[in-house]
Amino acid sequence: MKFFLDTADIDQIRTASEWGILDGVTTNPTLVSKTGRPFLEVVKEILKVVDGPVSLETVSLDAEGMIKEGRMLAELGENVVVKIPMTPEGMKAVQVLESEGIPTNVTLVFSPVQALIAAKAGASYVSPFVGRIDDISGEGMKLIREVKEIFLNYEIDTQIIVASVRHPMHVVEAALIGADICTMPFAVMEKLFKHPLTDKGIDLFLKDWEKVPDKPF
Ligand code: E4P
Repeated sequence: MKFFLDTADIDQIRTASEWGILDGVTTNPTLVSKTGRPFLEVVKEILKVVDGPVSLETVSLDAEGMIKEGRMLAELGENVVVKIPMTPEGMKAVQVLESEGIPTNVTLVFSPVQALIAAKAGASYVSPFVGRIDDISGEGMKLIREVKEIFLNYEIDTQIIVASVRHPMHVVEAALIGADICTMPFAVMEKLFKHPLTDKGIDLFLKDWEKVPDKPF
């Protein structure tokens, strides 16, 4: 499973990239606004650091506007993926952009049939949001299981990006289901490394290392 960071924060992206586990980035207008920086400045920096797919979101509500924005965003880099909301107008835009070789990521997907529609429209990626479903007492990961099953039934090659991730168990469950990608906040990615027995083990090894005579380092 690929690991994407769900952020527009360049320091977080650089850090994850240095860890060697970063496969791509997803952004949205909220994440860009949190940086407080001009959109193009932020995006160009991200595209310099990340080799993998970088999703940038359109904001128009009509297909014509989405297509125009999508073409503009695609000009910024070969790895740009245009993020389009799951609406009828959005699906029109997906068909046009994909026919021009511009990959799309259909966002704000909350039901299995919405994911199927995105795939039928030809989207390269679909982003079902798990955390926002959990937030309203639903079962976000059930959506991922169902989308995965439907895509397997019809050998659909649209990639599933598990989005709106809140904690490491979302990541584990996404991998168990066989999702293609999990996009997560930096705080979640950091937590993936953690295990109390790892910390305890390091402490013990370091204490014992002190007892070793004539150490080379
Ligand atoms: C997906 O690409 C979205 O940017 C994101 O995962 C939304 O997550 P949120 O529910 O934490 O805002």
